[in-house]
Amino acid sequence: MARTFHRRQFNRAVAATSLVGSALGGAALFAEENRFAESDRANRRTAIGANVAATVHPLASNAALKIYQNGGNAIDAAIAAALCLGVVDGHNSGLGGGCLMLIRTQGGAIHAIDGRETAPAAASETMYLRNGKPVAELSQTGSLACAVPGQIAALKLAHDKLGSLRWVSLFETAIEAAENGYAIGLATHNAISSERENLSNYEASKAVLLKPDGSVPKVGEVLRQPDLAKTLENIAKYGPGWFYAGDFAKSAVEYLDKHAGILTLQDFGNYKAIERTAIRTSYRGNQVIGFPTPSSGGIHIAQMLNMLETFDVAKIYAKSKAEFFHLLAECMKRAFADRAHWLGDSDFVDVPKFLIDPGYAATLTQQISLDKASANIEHGSMEADVDKKHTTHLATADSKGNWVALTSTVNTTWGCKVMIPGTGVMLNNEMDDFSISPGVPNAFGLVGSANNAIAANKRPLSSMSPTIVLSKDGTPTLSCGAAGGPKIINATLQNIVRCIDLNQPIDQAIASARVHQQWRPDIVYHEPNLGGLRQPLNENGNEKNEVTEQLTSLGHPLKVSSSLAIAQGIQMTHRGLLAATDPRTDGQAIAM
Ligand code: GLY
Repeated sequence: MARTFHRRQFNRAVAATSLVGSALGGAALFAEENRFAESDRANRRTAIGANVAATVHPLASNAALKIYQNGGNAIDAAIAAALCLGVVDGHNSGLGGGCLMLIRTQGGAIHAIDGRETAPAAASETMYLRNGKPVAELSQTGSLACAVPGQIAALKLAHDKLGSLRWVSLFETAIEAAENGYAIGLATHNAISSERENLSNYEASKAVLLKPDGSVPKVGEVLRQPDLAKTLENIAKYGPGWFYAGDFAKSAVEYLDKHAGILTLQDFGNYKAIERTAIRTSYRGNQVIGFPTPSSGGIHIAQMLNMLETFDVAKIYAKSKAEFFHLLAECMKRAFADRAHWLGDSDFVDVPKFLIDPGYAATLTQQISLDKASANIEHGSMEADVDKKHTTHLATADSKGNWVALTSTVNTTWGCKVMIPGTGVMLNNEMDDFSISPGVPNAFGLVGSANNAIAANKRPLSSMSPTIVLSKDGTPTLSCGAAGGPKIINATLQNIVRCIDLNQPIDQAIASARVHQQWRPDIVYHEPNLGGLRQPLNENGNEKNEVTEQLTSLGHPLKVSSSLAIAQGIQMTHRGLLAATDPRTDGQAIAM
């Protein structure tokens, strides 16, 4: 049975341990309560029921559970979970970031709500050039790196159209976690640790996330965020207007003005979440619904599925797992080459429709040989930083037939590291998802063309890929998505293929070792134990096995990675809806 979170124990524990005058305090009691034995952790990775949710944090999953208990639907549950993740998993997503939300309603309608951040009006192609040379640091850290946040506008748009509970009620768990605090887990501890130096350059980030002596809070210590609680309360009470045209926008612009930022009150005031037309592809009789630009995920998943449909993937897998991964890598390579060349915000540039045309896919598959890796068109010399983990994906579905796949991000860990004083809001560094200069790789090692160049009010290209699969008659059967920059696209593809072609349950698909190829560099990244369930990387060289040996002999340069994306998913089964979280992190699936 799904474990529920006991609010009374939470409050008692936090009240007993939090320190006056500091956001951080010890909380052995609550940490104990929140700590799960390994078997318990395995148990909470899946849940089956009529109303389900899967997120990367137990508190966020329990926010969704509470919504179901109060009679809310999957849209309400997704919003409450996303708001809570912004508090307890703020290095990945939050009010200062953006999101893409794909919804299938009980009536069968599809809504693709784009809450992607937007470049300020003063942004230009040359804004990160100094002495004619691109300076990547400027698009990644500090005030100049942030774009206008979009998450809260998107969540409100979804709620206005499809929510069933009152807006204010969706904030309860998030506010409680911000105000009373939560016990820091390993993910947050590591995220603070890895960015300690950068965070300590910004007064509010430092005050909230580091201890008074500048050290990193330990796992189990309580992080309280009273300013963020107040911000959430104001948005709950006054709506997004408070954020975009009220006190938050004023505080943000005032701060950014003084710290070399360029966002204005007009930029905030002009922000709009946009409802877009989803991408529909057919794959082995199923309808695969993906997110359109500014995401590249929907297009490239459709493109790769079109390629894969011309192969008997199940037969290839049964014959040789190496051949299966080889085929996937060959499709990925071609899709990412197109991504680098063609993709950008289609409100600004032409993104060709042929990319998702099965005829075009056929021309690409003709170039694929099952006997050897194709030579790369161009080999980049840069390394992709595929080990970094960013962003978050959550999934909800209810008994009425509402399904939500929601991916949310501040881009890289803690976004641009700038927290606006007095608000608890950490701003994104989504400007780095533009190509800051043609051919210059971003934080993910991705290169882009003029189509993804910076322009005023344009949205940077994303890899976020919330996806919902419907059967021929329109019944939702599967929802997939992931976190992890470009790895999102390939992880989502692999989960779809494993469920549809290999008939695997979603939890097995998610737990299986993955590959990732993004054209540049020409490397197949893979997780340990390829061909089986992914294992943590160990010092005994567990990365090599028969499958990797065969991939090498097919001509693929290989590189091991301990984790290629963090995925959540939901699948329709005979026993009910199966929700699954990724064993690569410490999430929780809930059911009611
Ligand atoms: N910021 C990562 C992405 O949107 O792809």
